[in-house]
Amino acid sequence: MQPRDLSAHAPYVPGRGTEEVARELGLDPEELTKLSSNENPHGPSPKAVAAIEDAAPTVSVYPKTAHTDLTERLADKWNLDPEQVWVSPGADGSIDYLSRAMLEPSDTILEPSPGFSYYSMSARYHHGDAVQYEVSKADDFEQTAEAVLDAYDGERMVYLTTPHNPSGSVLPRDELVELAESVEDHTLLVVDEAYGEFADEPSAIDLLSEYDNLAVLRTFSKAYGLAGLRIGYACVPEAWADAYARVNTPFAASEVACRAALAALDDPDHVEKSVESAKWAREYLCDELDVPTWESAGNFVLAEVGDATAVSEAAQREGVIVRDCGSFGLPECIRISCGTEAQTKRAVDVLNRVVSEVPTA
Ligand SMILES: Cc1ncc(COP(=O)(O)O)c(C=O)c1O
Repeated sequence: MQPRDLSAHAPYVPGRGTEEVARELGLDPEELTKLSSNENPHGPSPKAVAAIEDAAPTVSVYPKTAHTDLTERLADKWNLDPEQVWVSPGADGSIDYLSRAMLEPSDTILEPSPGFSYYSMSARYHHGDAVQYEVSKADDFEQTAEAVLDAYDGERMVYLTTPHNPSGSVLPRDELVELAESVEDHTLLVVDEAYGEFADEPSAIDLLSEYDNLAVLRTFSKAYGLAGLRIGYACVPEAWADAYARVNTPFAASEVACRAALAALDDPDHVEKSVESAKWAREYLCDELDVPTWESAGNFVLAEVGDATAVSEAAQREGVIVRDCGSFGLPECIRISCGTEAQTKRAVDVLNRVVSEVPTA
């Protein structure tokens, strides 16, 4: 017995976890500073923690009311109909729901390169394929409609990541509008705003009232600090919002996750503090690292260090875990997530020392 041919399916490469690295190096996890997965260094809102504790005794029942409450709450926040909010286990879950709703076997998606790997993984799970447009390092990862349209050949879905992972660049709104007006009728533009809270640009969600070829992804994993609970959503146009009922995995967004997300929405101060802290940290990283960096609108900074594997391994031995961007096709770059002030300063100290010691590739 064998699974189907999975040779075209690349495994997802996550940022390295604290426990994993601690065990490997024989260190106490407390000694490690993990800045590899763009998580919220301030943790979840205390209100979300209380909601998780309160929800614990109710987990014997399937999540129904909590899911409805969260959907309605998000619809209210974004001025949408509840049908237009597709709650899912993380934004990754929304990517799958959109793949299920859109892709016929052999349909193709167009995605950024470098970029977030789950777009093509999901397309392939759904018997589709993926091609890439370049978000070019030589152009400082500038995102333009022209670059996307140069590569575009009528793909069924086109992913746009703003702020872009791993560079932190943004797709300006006028470029997005140009794309929405230029692609063929059967093409869906998926605007991934997983890091949207950290950017000064407004969300594209309000464009859903004008364009029915747009979907916008959002998550509670980053600014809201709920990555471990797996909760996110897609906002979609009214015209085809009812597809959710046909494609979603029943009860995939858990009771605890929905309750925590509702409580997190009730704590705007926590989000604001998290965003302010990330803005301070990304500026500090750009100013203080002794290597080239790119201005970022996310909660992370991309830095060019020469041999990213050597630098990230050396930093790890000193207790600082960053993301080696080799898996993004940038073997000379690392991505450093914004930490607390103490974590960020420690990361800069360690990285500057390590970079001066590691021979360039
Ligand atoms: C650009 C981008 N989109 C989506 C996601 C998925 O987020 P979630 O944790 O909500 O599944 C990530 C996670 O790192 C990301 O970087």
